[in-house]
Amino acid sequence: MENGFGGIGAIMTMLVTGGAGFIGSNFVNYMLDKKEKIVILDSLTYAGNLNNLSKHLTERNLLVPNLHHRLATIQVDADQIVEIDHDAVSEHMHLRLKTSGWSPQIISPENLALEISHILAGEDLVFVYGSIADYDLVQEVIKECDIIVNFAAETHVDRSILNPDLFIKTDVYGTHILLEAARKCENLKRFVHISTDEVYGVATDHSFTELDPINPRNPYSASKAAADRLVYAYNQTYGIPVTIVRPSNNFGPYQYPEKLIPVMIIKALRNEPLPIYGDGKQIRDWLFVKDTVSALDCIIQGGIVGEVYNIAGRNERENIEVVRIILRMLGKDETLIRHIEDRPGHDRRYSLDDTKLCADLGFKYRGNFEEALASTIQWYVDNQEWWRKIIESDNEYAAFVQKWYASKM
Ligand code: NAD
Ligand code: DAU
Repeated sequence: MENGFGGIGAIMTMLVTGGAGFIGSNFVNYMLDKKEKIVILDSLTYAGNLNNLSKHLTERNLLVPNLHHRLATIQVDADQIVEIDHDAVSEHMHLRLKTSGWSPQIISPENLALEISHILAGEDLVFVYGSIADYDLVQEVIKECDIIVNFAAETHVDRSILNPDLFIKTDVYGTHILLEAARKCENLKRFVHISTDEVYGVATDHSFTELDPINPRNPYSASKAAADRLVYAYNQTYGIPVTIVRPSNNFGPYQYPEKLIPVMIIKALRNEPLPIYGDGKQIRDWLFVKDTVSALDCIIQGGIVGEVYNIAGRNERENIEVVRIILRMLGKDETLIRHIEDRPGHDRRYSLDDTKLCADLGFKYRGNFEEALASTIQWYVDNQEWWRKIIESDNEYAAFVQKWYASKM
């Protein structure tokens, strides 16, 4: 069995997919602080946010490939907003929103690998706008990379209940395309796939180890389980050097305001009702994102090819308890809590055993839950512009909230 790299050193370049999302951007910021070279591939869905990377983004390192002549006539206007004409209206609007404040380089796909290597000669980060499901693009981007860390996914269970289709396209098919490109990439030293504890399904009498069978129960977790096993199959069948990681529920800075903890912090700050699904006694194992990224670093350094590693939070709590702590920390009253209709097929408890990560790889958690939650609350208090932009002016967000919550509240 082959183990990790024993230090990824300056010659390694990581392709981080989904690097503009919550965990991905925390991971990129951590790795850039360690002076690693990073290429991000992100299609900037509703959850991808260039503001998460603002510390490191420059005009030079933000690339928009001109694929399939879709972006054939592009100008950058005086306000540095990308303009695209002809019929790509939705893409036009999308890029206007997402690149406002940055002026990306528009580049032909055939020059992409060369341009990435030029930029990396002088800088540590290249951002490429595009999808993991686009084979032509992925096989260009991958040429300059030694390690792939695949965060890109549709990630919200409630959205998967409304629209499973997108989850199959991104989480399953997108992962398949990445694996196909990896299969043809001679440099590739490791494919690290971010799976989830949800693939195990509901925990009853014990915390799941990596040897437990999987039993996903909602469209999101079923898509993630399919991707997880596809990654494993590419190792067993084609010898791709994969490692699979299954973290529990993350929280921390830059988490999109649709997940439990940011929803509750923001609603409490705005004195709005806090929607608890059902009795609120469902249990999640809360893991601070800063622990997740250092555990991933540890797995990249020492993890064994073909193996799965759980990352637990060691902090199982009922949802209602987490919400009460948030209200207490913000000095708000519990009368804000509102029990609403339960999520269909709601998993009652997730629980992970992380012996393999801690005993075999020597990983140690640093986060204490109450301290990490307090610092997360402080981040949302200090960064109101970040979340107000989403909840007050993103039409997509408003449409989701209306569709999911309106009839339940
Ligand atoms: P997120 O929703 O915040 O971000 C997802 C990112 O992926 C966004 O930047 C989005 O633009 C990008 N993306 C989506 N589709 C893409 C595509 N086709 N091509 C390229 N980029 C695309 O997600 P997150 O919470 O940071 O989760 C990251 C990963 O970790 C996911 O794979 C998720 O399943 C897994 N995970 C998350 C948690 C958690 O609690 N957040 C726990 C366990 C595992
Ligand atoms: O366990 C890992 C998974 O955690 C990740 O793989 C997923 O990407 C991530 O979204 C998360 O899934 P959950 O469904 O556990 O997280 P969410 O924040 O959506 O919900 C946490 C719990 O809180 C769950 O029991 C549902 C409940 N909840 C959630 C929301 C948004 C509420 O009671 N009210 C809410 O408004």
